[in-house]
Amino acid sequence: MGKITAAITAVGGYVPDYVLSNKILETMVDTTDEWITTRTGIKERRILKEEGKGTSYLAIKAAEDLLRKSNTDPKDIDMVIMATATPDMPVAATGVYVASEIGAVNAFSYDLVAACSSFLYGMSTAARYIESGRYKKVLLLGADKMSSIIDYEDRTTCIIFGDGGGALLFEPNHDGYGVLDEILRSDGIGRQSLKIDAGGSIMPASHETVDNKQHYVFQDGKTVFKFAVSNMADVSEQIMVRNGLTGDDVDWLVPHQANLRIIGATAKRMNLPEEKVMVNIQKYGNTTSATLPLCLVDYEKQLSKGDNLVFASFGGGFTWGAIYVKWAYDSNS
Ligand code: UT7
Repeated sequence: MGKITAAITAVGGYVPDYVLSNKILETMVDTTDEWITTRTGIKERRILKEEGKGTSYLAIKAAEDLLRKSNTDPKDIDMVIMATATPDMPVAATGVYVASEIGAVNAFSYDLVAACSSFLYGMSTAARYIESGRYKKVLLLGADKMSSIIDYEDRTTCIIFGDGGGALLFEPNHDGYGVLDEILRSDGIGRQSLKIDAGGSIMPASHETVDNKQHYVFQDGKTVFKFAVSNMADVSEQIMVRNGLTGDDVDWLVPHQANLRIIGATAKRMNLPEEKVMVNIQKYGNTTSATLPLCLVDYEKQLSKGDNLVFASFGGGFTWGAIYVKWAYDSNS
């Protein structure tokens, strides 16, 4: 029996019904559809409007989609990893609640927080648990209710983010399919460029922090863009070189959906034509922890067993990386 690798065996996703289009944003802040489209590639994003529903709602819906499609009994799941930057509440992990709600009563769960790279890091974590031989079904969820931390009077951030959730199931494989390599990086220099100042242990929430809108996302877009363009492309190229892959060998780039120009720069460095790049930013904007699984949901039918996929992300912190996956099943039937 060959070495154990962690194969992705099922995908699921969910986005809320409400569509926040560029046209609607034009009525809310000083922006234009043309500016947003040319600078980011985004046309619309989904927003979870219902009162009292948080990130767990998005994750539960995505997990249920996966369980239904793959005919998986939730009782067979050993572990639920919840990647998110917008947990339901501080302290109590969102993933624990989600696991119980979906009936994964034999699983243990925790949250993994690394801004827009949460899901990519989660893939690495899920793979290690599977490779250990101890766990047979690891459910990785990525969900964010970004609308809960966005100031809809700030045109520099409100045009970018959306809400959504995604799910992947990892299982052991003995034929060389699944997660084959990874390059993961982080650099604390990024803490000043993409952050929420208040509500954490340095600056607990107060009347003053709320009045100053310090519980909303702040982004120095230009700086983040500069780091993202070079770092995401660097690791994507490095992982190809290290695995002897050329642009011809890579079937799909699965990039974090933050900005179409960042995605384009990475694809160019990898020598990939447009048709090998998964893009759905126009529909959902940046859903933070949900971008990678939502790409797989949208492109699942085009994937074939044996396809070489390179996942890549860049996000706050800074955090970034690339993961090489050999796709494990034919989805086009
Ligand atoms: O996923 C986590 C990681 N995040 C990212 O990867 C995001 C990286 N950054 C970006 O994607 C881009 O920097 C943004 C899309 C956020 C901004 O695009 P940009 O091309 O870097 O624009 P900019 O910030 O340099 O702003 C250019 C101009 C400014 O006006 P002046 O100073 O030139 O007069 C802004 O005030 O555009 C203005 N501007 C806007 N105009 C219309 C900023 N936001 C808007 C807006 N509508 N929504």
